[in-house]
Amino acid sequence: MSIRSETRKERNTRKTLILIPPNPMASSSIPIREPHSTPKPNLHSVPASMALAAAPSTHFPLSLSRKPPLLTPSAAASVAPAHLEIPALAFDHKLVVSGGRQLSGHVHISGSKNAALAVLAGSLCCAAGPAVIRGVPDLSDTRTMAAVLRSVGARVEEAGGGEVVVDATRVSSVEPSPDDVGRIRAGFFVLGPLVARFGEAEVALPGGCKIGARPIDLYVRGLSALGAVVELRHGKVRVRAANGKGLIGGQFHLDYPSVGATETLMMAASMAEGVSVLSNVAREPEVADLAQFLVACGACIEGAGTGTLVITGRKQLHGAEFTIAPDRIEAGTFMVAAAITRSCISLSPVIPYHLSCMIDKLSTAGCRITLRGPGILEISAVPAATGGDLQGFYLKTSPYPGFPTDLQPQFMALLATCNGSSIVEESVFENRMHHVEELQKLGARIKLHGSTALVEGRKPRSLALSGCPIAAADLRGGAALVLAGMAAEGVTEVGGVAHIDRGYENFEPKLLSLGAEIRREVTPNSYL
Ligand code: UD1
Repeated sequence: MSIRSETRKERNTRKTLILIPPNPMASSSIPIREPHSTPKPNLHSVPASMALAAAPSTHFPLSLSRKPPLLTPSAAASVAPAHLEIPALAFDHKLVVSGGRQLSGHVHISGSKNAALAVLAGSLCCAAGPAVIRGVPDLSDTRTMAAVLRSVGARVEEAGGGEVVVDATRVSSVEPSPDDVGRIRAGFFVLGPLVARFGEAEVALPGGCKIGARPIDLYVRGLSALGAVVELRHGKVRVRAANGKGLIGGQFHLDYPSVGATETLMMAASMAEGVSVLSNVAREPEVADLAQFLVACGACIEGAGTGTLVITGRKQLHGAEFTIAPDRIEAGTFMVAAAITRSCISLSPVIPYHLSCMIDKLSTAGCRITLRGPGILEISAVPAATGGDLQGFYLKTSPYPGFPTDLQPQFMALLATCNGSSIVEESVFENRMHHVEELQKLGARIKLHGSTALVEGRKPRSLALSGCPIAAADLRGGAALVLAGMAAEGVTEVGGVAHIDRGYENFEPKLLSLGAEIRREVTPNSYL
């Protein structure tokens, strides 16, 4: 994880982390709690000066009998390795794309961002021994999650090559840094392990892409069903076991199969006393990945990948070694890169059945998709091979195994270059159409009615779009704009690259290696 200079805001954040570091005294004095029997750190013993209404960056050390020593920045440097710090946005970045280039060659697919974030959160369950997690993509989101873990006292080390070691045996706080949690959606997931392990936790409301209201009602009701009392105060969710000891297994039916709520409740139930039954849960592969990780740590989870989870709580989970599955959304994005440029590329590693929806749609459009070996997929949209240009199609997003909402923008960009009319219905998030206006600037003929877009087709084999400056407003929408730029005539400048950096590892180097003409331009951040 590379070093970059920090923004003022991040400097302040880091200062907070430095001034109130994980308290080694407190850590060593806290026995690793047997969830249903031993005492837990007491949030209510926090002095008034550090109570809920305190400054948002205040941490709640677990043991308050001794004040943590204040560290000078230089002393702090010895406890916070520089290479593991969050990168700063000291610069604005834009991607400058020259369109009309054909792609060829092979691209390596990184580990899944969303699975890695969930498993990193899940590593807080490991009260005995470190978790060794392989295939963690180097992204600003995974670095932020590392900061969230560190802010409660976990040790997070990057061992190189995508291997991250998290030692959460000595957690020293049940309140992760609100600033870090507020940057990403997945930061909120640590609520599950913290409350299950310590009987209480206080976590700020999450961040993430602005693609809808993204409420947390399912988390709240699910944790209540496991015997927790949940309060929202001053932008933070405070959860404690109602019996003062630990969570109790229970039954909960999710009104909607939310990925994050399923993951949070799965982690919580893994350490609750007794059996929990969670129904209508998310079946996304990333949820199954988290379940596999927890099982490797000693959890008892049946039904991962199905709509019902039966979880028998364990008193304590231990560390384990685990490898993150390949990122199906990154794979889908590169499949669109090939299709939108009417090219032929191969990608690996992939798990083909994770991609069946995308393969189905791209085949309908006229692409030829071939399994070239275990985990190696080839996609060709070269007109000579496909027997004509690509045709539009109907697409509706829905929870897995439906079409992923995280690929809707990229597929819409593709449809803007296909023949015939297409319809795109977004059913997961109510406000995930920011890319439409930017695609329209490139000349895409899209009419938006609420969350449904009518995409008009183009004449065969003509360049559908023409480049101009545009800006990403969210992660997947940003990727869609870059793809559209690759299909557009002339130069497209895509601003807001920080959104893309949240979720794509080496995005432009990978595109460059396939033959795209793309470069990153860096300008000083005018806000600093
Ligand atoms: C996760 C993914 C995100 C993906 C999304 C849907 C991570 C870090 N992010 O986000 O990339 O786009 O799944 O596949 O894994 N909802 C409620 N109440 C709740 C929770 C959710 O109504 O308590 C609704 C949301 O508003 C949304 C829908 O459920 O309309 C899906 O959201 P959810 O599955 O929770 O997405 P995330 O976990 O936030």
